[in-house]
Amino acid sequence: MKFNINPLVLKEFEENLNVLEPEKSSIPARVIGLGEISSVFVIDHIELKDYAFKRLPIFSNQKEAEEYEKILKEYINILESGVGIKVVQTDGTIVKTSDGRIVYYLVQELLPQESIGNKFIKNADRTSAIDFFKKVIRELAKVEDFNKKSEKIKVGIDGQISNWVAFRKDHGIAPAYLDVSTPLYRKDGKEMLKADLILKSAPPILKQILKFLFLKEVLDRYYDLRLIIIDLLANLFKEKLDENEFIPELIQVANKELHIKKITFDEVKAYYKKDAFIWELFLSSRKFYRFVKAKVFRSRYDFILPEKIER
Ligand SMILES: Nc1ncnc2c1ncn2[C@@H]1O[C@H](COP(=O)(O)OP(=O)(O)O)[C@@H](O)[C@H]1O
Ligand SMILES: [Mg+2]
Repeated sequence: MKFNINPLVLKEFEENLNVLEPEKSSIPARVIGLGEISSVFVIDHIELKDYAFKRLPIFSNQKEAEEYEKILKEYINILESGVGIKVVQTDGTIVKTSDGRIVYYLVQELLPQESIGNKFIKNADRTSAIDFFKKVIRELAKVEDFNKKSEKIKVGIDGQISNWVAFRKDHGIAPAYLDVSTPLYRKDGKEMLKADLILKSAPPILKQILKFLFLKEVLDRYYDLRLIIIDLLANLFKEKLDENEFIPELIQVANKELHIKKITFDEVKAYYKKDAFIWELFLSSRKFYRFVKAKVFRSRYDFILPEKIER
């Protein structure tokens, strides 16, 4: 561990975590990030309070978690040393509970909320916000440059604005990447992260459907610069940025910055609507599955789900 985290405290936390109401756990936790796939939280404990923890309860055994960790570290290394993107210092640890469950925790320093991309872009003045957005676009363009040059390894990235943090650099602001928990990269065309891990929280039948209908499409788009940018732009609707002026302006910035086929407002909006539909379907099916598991069968549903995604 790069960070000085007491593994026993984390184990105690995991063993007593109330996944339906984390704030009511004996070591209380507060969810600070409602992502689509996992939740990030702050743990109210003297030894853990300065960190952000991302909990991944998706592993069936130690070996699976170790494999994931290897892939995670390689991904971070490729982003930093290969692509040249600054990545928020990230560590991780495998927690094994007394009853034999394996949970992986990603650990990062707890960053100030107002420095997270989506908050930053909303609160900063227009010029700084656009400047930050432009820099994010340039970081994403590096991924394409890397992929063009690299034969064996291709890197995917989820460029959404909430995956970046604004940090101070040479009297200005620069973006660093924070959302590394889905390490997307391919070696000789083969996706290194097992698709099953991504879909672990979905009900079994839906899992099959998602895997065959959407997964390839959903994953492919993280390897295609134009789609990465459209995804980033579409997400700004979800972030409730002003769609009359600000979003069109940012679309223009992206078009100016990159050598890609021009992105239009209508295209971005249509993408947003379709994407919202897919994710809402995914979330509501997971909620139903959680209900069945936890309430009907009284067994354990291990995921912390967002109550409602604001759109
Ligand atoms: N180290 C951190 N410090 C502060 N907030 C964080 C940190 N990591 C994540 N978050 C918050 O949680 C949100 C989701 O985290 P992210 O890693 O993007 O996970 P997801 O896979 O759920 O999108 C971020 O947008 C941010 O608001
Ligand atoms: Mg994210």
